[in-house]
Amino acid sequence: MKCQYESQRVAYPYFIAAMALFAAQVLFGLVVGIQYIWPDFLFPAIPFNIGRMIHINLLVVWLIFGFMGSAYYLLPEEVEGEIFSVKLALLHFWLFLIGGATAIVGYLFRWHDGREFLEQPTIIKVAIVVVVLMFIFNMFMTIMKGRRKTGISVVLFIGFLGLAVFYLFAFFKPDNMTLDKYFWWWVVHLWVEGVWELIMAALLSFLLVKITGIDREVAEKWLYAIVGLTFLTGIIGTGHHYYWIGTPAFWQTWGAWFSAIEVLPFAAMVAFSFSMVSKRARNHPNRAAVLWTVGAAVLSFLGAGVLGFMHTLPQINFYTHGTQMTASHGHLAFYGAYAVIVLAMASYAVPNIRGVMPTHQKAEIFAFWTMSISMVLIALSLTGAGIVQVYLQRILAIPYMETQSYITIFYAMRLFFGATFTIGLVVYLYDFFLPGKARAESPS
Ligand code: HEM
Ligand code: HEM
Ligand SMILES: [Fe+2]
Repeated sequence: MKCQYESQRVAYPYFIAAMALFAAQVLFGLVVGIQYIWPDFLFPAIPFNIGRMIHINLLVVWLIFGFMGSAYYLLPEEVEGEIFSVKLALLHFWLFLIGGATAIVGYLFRWHDGREFLEQPTIIKVAIVVVVLMFIFNMFMTIMKGRRKTGISVVLFIGFLGLAVFYLFAFFKPDNMTLDKYFWWWVVHLWVEGVWELIMAALLSFLLVKITGIDREVAEKWLYAIVGLTFLTGIIGTGHHYYWIGTPAFWQTWGAWFSAIEVLPFAAMVAFSFSMVSKRARNHPNRAAVLWTVGAAVLSFLGAGVLGFMHTLPQINFYTHGTQMTASHGHLAFYGAYAVIVLAMASYAVPNIRGVMPTHQKAEIFAFWTMSISMVLIALSLTGAGIVQVYLQRILAIPYMETQSYITIFYAMRLFFGATFTIGLVVYLYDFFLPGKARAESPS
């Protein structure tokens, strides 16, 4: 249980940064969650809009740290060769950390620019592009220098390339509001329902090959099917954001049909992981990693596939657009797909990097269930809020603020499950940062 390649260790700082920023993200989630009930909480230091901005920006930053760390861990084993440049990897690690931290602290001092998820001031955006280009160059050279090219490494590469390319639309801010929104989704939608899905599918395949010992050829066939389904459905599926923003009416038809079948790649990931795990060639000692891996497939199916489908048809979205239904889906989808796959990679990779046996796993398994059940219940609380909100506000035409006053109970439930989520996270982080003697057995 040690790293096969020395340069894989460069993944370690990435996972550490990811976990620290994850903790901060959830802390700000709690702040905005409290403000939903006591609006004056921390006012004027952290107004709701700033707290929300920090909450979702930290989310994206820690996930990208996690993706990069996962890639640096996975690539040497996949391509059978060391990372092209560990120095470069460390250089852009620090650049990203400093850039990310500057952006977040800047938000607290009202230094921000524009649209949801893309609030980074232009100079920070430029820094992000530079970081991602350095990373992609390093990845490319590692693959070229390696002894083999695998489907997993190539899909991962394409995913990152897409992440970089679509981020460029963050620089494009037309004055026309329809065009502004139109291209904003080229970042947000084409990330989470396009290129990030490739990253997730590649990481999932890697983990399933490692923890089940099943043939790579079988895994790669699944991977290609998932990639095909992602492109087939997700690209035109962007139309589910073009129903009411002033775009041509044909989007209601195209968006509906294609986004309705966006469930397929997520369903395929569930089928993939269950079929691999049930046929497994050997029992992997890292049970927590197996749990996180299968959990990513199942929870992303629930959050993205099921909750996404619920509001994706225009006949329904007409009522639910921009309500708590959206927030419900946003939480379970981001958590289930991207947070959990990063946690799965960390769970698998970090004991190997540290050279310890992943034996003492009770804490991590407890954390998995506590966090995952809490997040499902957060999503259900918000679904409740959303249903009542739609009925009162969109059907009975009761004013927005009056409607809000009737659904406080759901926000209290969200906050309660946010607190239980935090308990799971604290246990997870305690185990991650202070693994204790039991895990620090000598490597085998
Ligand atoms: C892991 C994948 C996914 C993630 C992380 C995700 C996340 C999100 C987030 C954060 C939003 C809110 C954006 C905003 O601020 O306005 C959103 C909106 C939306 N998502 Fe997803 N999503 C995913 C997959 C899907 C899928 C597969 C579907 C359809 C089957 C879907 C359907 C929708 C729709 C229709 C909206 C617009 C809601 C509205 O009109 O207010 N999503 N998604
Ligand atoms: C555990 C405690 C958490 C609490 C109390 C919380 C609370 C909140 C609140 C109040 C908002 C603003 C919603 C609005 O504008 O109406 C929000 C937004 C958001 N949070 Fe959380 N959050 C938590 C954890 C998380 C986690 C773990 C994730 C993802 C892994 C996440 C992802 C998001 C996303 C994607 C949005 C934007 C949603 C949208 O645009 O519809 N949150 N959160
Ligand atoms: Fe979308």
